[in-house]
Order: sequence, then C-alpha cells, then structure tokens
Amino acid sequence: MGNELDIDNFSHQLRWMTTNSRSLFVRNLCAFGGGKIHRKGEAMFLAIKDIRKSFGEGDSRVEVLKGIGIEIEKGEFCVLLGPSGSGKSTLLNIIGGIDRPDSGEIIIDGERMADMREKKLTAYRRKHLGYIFQMYNLIPNLTVRENIEVGAYLGEHPLDVDELLHTLGLFEHRNKLPNQLSGGQQQRTAIGRAIVKNPDILLCDEPTGALDYQTSKEILKLIETVNRKYGNVVLMVTHNDAIKDMADRVVRMHDGMIRKNYRNEMRVPAENLDW
Ligand SMILES: Nc1ncnc2c1ncn2[C@@H]1O[C@H](COP(=O)(O)OP(=O)(O)OP(=O)(O)O)[C@@H](O)[C@H]1O
Ligand SMILES: [Mg+2]
Repeated sequence: MGNELDIDNFSHQLRWMTTNSRSLFVRNLCAFGGGKIHRKGEAMFLAIKDIRKSFGEGDSRVEVLKGIGIEIEKGEFCVLLGPSGSGKSTLLNIIGGIDRPDSGEIIIDGERMADMREKKLTAYRRKHLGYIFQMYNLIPNLTVRENIEVGAYLGEHPLDVDELLHTLGLFEHRNKLPNQLSGGQQQRTAIGRAIVKNPDILLCDEPTGALDYQTSKEILKLIETVNRKYGNVVLMVTHNDAIKDMADRVVRMHDGMIRKNYRNEMRVPAENLDW
C-alpha cells in the first residue's frame, strides 16, 4: 500500500519490546518517509484509483470511464449521481468485481482486487459484497424468508434472519412467494438478501428507480438504518438529486469523469427528504 504500513504486521515484533522501546519504534516508523500507519479496517476502506474502461474495438471503441478516483471510509454512505450513460453502472460493476477495468486499481481494506485470482475474487464477492439491482432478481419459487436465507448461506457472519425480517417490515410476509408481494416488498426482500450476509460494502444501482414516492422513501430509510446499525459502506447510484443530502459523500459523474466529490457536513435523515 504505497508508503502506508500495516500495523498488524508489526504486532508480533512489538509484543517482545518494552513499553518505551515500543513507542520509540512506532514513532520512528511514523517518521520514516512520512509513512502513515494503516490499521486494518480503519480509514480509506475502499480506494478507487484512476479507473479507465472502454468498450468496443477500433472506430466503435468508446471510452466510458476516463480516470475515476474516489476514496471511501469505513461506514461511509456515498451517493453517486450523473446523467444516463455517464458510466455509473460500469463503475459499480468494476467495484463489485463483475467487470474488470482496463487500467487502475480497486483496493478494498488494503487488498488489491487485481491480485485476486478468479476463485478468490468469487469467494470475496460472495462474502464481502452485497449488490442491490434495480430488477429484484428474486427466486420465484422460494418464499421471502427462503430468498433471504440464500443470502445468509453466502456470508461468514450472517445476521439473524428473523430480526432482519422485522427490520425490513417483512415478518408477516415471510411465507409469501415473490409474485404475492408488492414492488416495494419485493425490493425490501432483495435488500434483505444483499444485507443478511452483513457485507462490508453494499452496492445499490438505482434501488428506488421503479418505485413510487412513498415506497422509495421507505427503501431509503431502510438502507439508512442498515448503514447506521451495521456500519457497512454504502455506494448508491441514483438519478434523484434530492437523495444526495442523506449521504456522507456525494460524487457526481459526467461523461466518464468525476465532476464533483465532496462530503456533506450533516446528513439529512431520509425521512426529511422531499422531491
Ligand atoms: N458491455 C457494454 N458494451 C458496450 N458499451 C457499453 C457496455 N456497457 C455499457 N456501455 C456503454 O457505456 C456507457 C455507460 O454505461 P453505464 O451503464 O455505465 O451508464 P449509467 O451511468 O449507469 O447510465 P444509466 O443512468 O442510464 O443507468 C453507455 O454509453 C453504454 O452504452
Ligand atoms: Mg446504470
């Protein structure tokens, strides 16, 4: 990680030092080349570095991402805005390991995605990433509870399914099949399936795109609750400008580039948003 040092690697050495020599050792380490100590799980949890991506060959080649860089801290709620075709879903797919960039790096909790072989990447995606699509992709012949359980099997430390069903307001619908649910209930089930494995990063592509005002608000409140309660990074793509106020960080893309990237001083609760 550049000139960052992972302090966990030094714990073995530090254990055998006296208190004085230990603090001197750490101070020297910090002073060395201005290096910063990186504690696993702290600060820049997700680093997106100079990502470039194009599709097509020759004359029909289109550069879709033209050098995207974003740094996101643990627990940060980030909203990604931009016009249709600006590259939002392409970026989300690259962060989610579904697609690979032409160049640039994705580093999650100190691990470079490019260094992971296919098998490890698949396992990593299963365990650490949650994906909420605009289309719900529920399994039609499984009940609400079973659809969520599918997600729980994928994680190492899944959340309690019954508690989550209550949080999602789906407990009384738990034995229904997807075609017996409203759009909002289906979307909540899809969120349940993504969140039940308690992923480090929750990627949402227009999670409210197909929903009416009231249901959209319900879903936003739910994602907000999940982010506050479990501290997962949330990266949410939306066309709805009003949603930016509920985020810690707002990134605005235009034509494959970042137009704006700033932190909100205060988060407006989803409840108080209006559009
Ligand atoms: N597999 C692909 N092959 C060729 N072109 C692609 C492919 N995927 C995306 N593109 C192109 O890349 C550009 C960005 O697409 P992307 O889906 O990332 O946009 P977006 O910002 O998510 O748009 P929207 O808001 O409409 O969902 C578009 O011009 C699209 O046509
Ligand atoms: Mg898209």
